[in-house]
Amino acid sequence: MQLQQAIEQRRSIRMFSPRPVPRETIEAMIKKAIWAPSWGNTQPWEIIAVDGPVLAEFKRQNRQASLDGKESKPDIDTPKKWPEPLITRYQEVGKSVLAALKIERGDKQGRIKYYGEMNYLFDAPALLMFVAKKELNLEYTVLDCGLLIQNICLLAEEEGLGTCLLAASINYPEIAHRLLAIPEDRKLIVGMAIGWPERDALVNSFERKRGALDEFLRWV
Ligand SMILES: Cc1cc2nc3c(=O)[nH]c(=O)nc-3n(C[C@H](O)[C@H](O)[C@H](O)COP(=O)(O)O)c2cc1C
Repeated sequence: MQLQQAIEQRRSIRMFSPRPVPRETIEAMIKKAIWAPSWGNTQPWEIIAVDGPVLAEFKRQNRQASLDGKESKPDIDTPKKWPEPLITRYQEVGKSVLAALKIERGDKQGRIKYYGEMNYLFDAPALLMFVAKKELNLEYTVLDCGLLIQNICLLAEEEGLGTCLLAASINYPEIAHRLLAIPEDRKLIVGMAIGWPERDALVNSFERKRGALDEFLRWV
């Protein structure tokens, strides 16, 4: 697959087929992805790959916490406010997802159920949890992990796999620490749901937008 095609074709997948992802496939992708750059080649990322019964239990407890309205306390502060035009973009993707799932704007129960499913990692058959040592500088660690993560997303695309980065997977760090045996001196950066996409699902195929070049680029 051409790089440009992988970049443009990759999209967040929110409905997966139950077919498992072979561990060797995930290992081979990560082996390639670790050629990402990092500050001083420090490679601060640690990846916890989760599948099978442990993942099933993690998904169950994470969804239950969300349905119970448990306060989320991620290790990384979640953004709460955005200036324009970011807030409009954020709202647009939210509307597109809910419309694709036929959840009406005023349907509070439908939305709560949907957030439950998001915390259930959209029932993906595998999860990659990215963690790093707490003592590390947060900004550069997150940047380094981001570079690795995009490599994995593109390699997954090439394999025909779908991914969705999920802030929803780190809402309740205590669940992840306990079930995924993550030591307390590690911070959760983000989780990635990974699996075979349901290609025909509208939630995996609605039109997304990107800003024009002059919204992001300025020559001097
Ligand atoms: C750090 C990060 C966290 C995200 N968390 C979630 C999430 O919790 N739930 C979700 O549905 N999508 C999540 N996403 C996916 C974004 O909504 C998605 O990347 C964005 O809407 C652009 O769409 P695309 O990935 O299909 O191009 C997250 C993306 C990033 C980069």
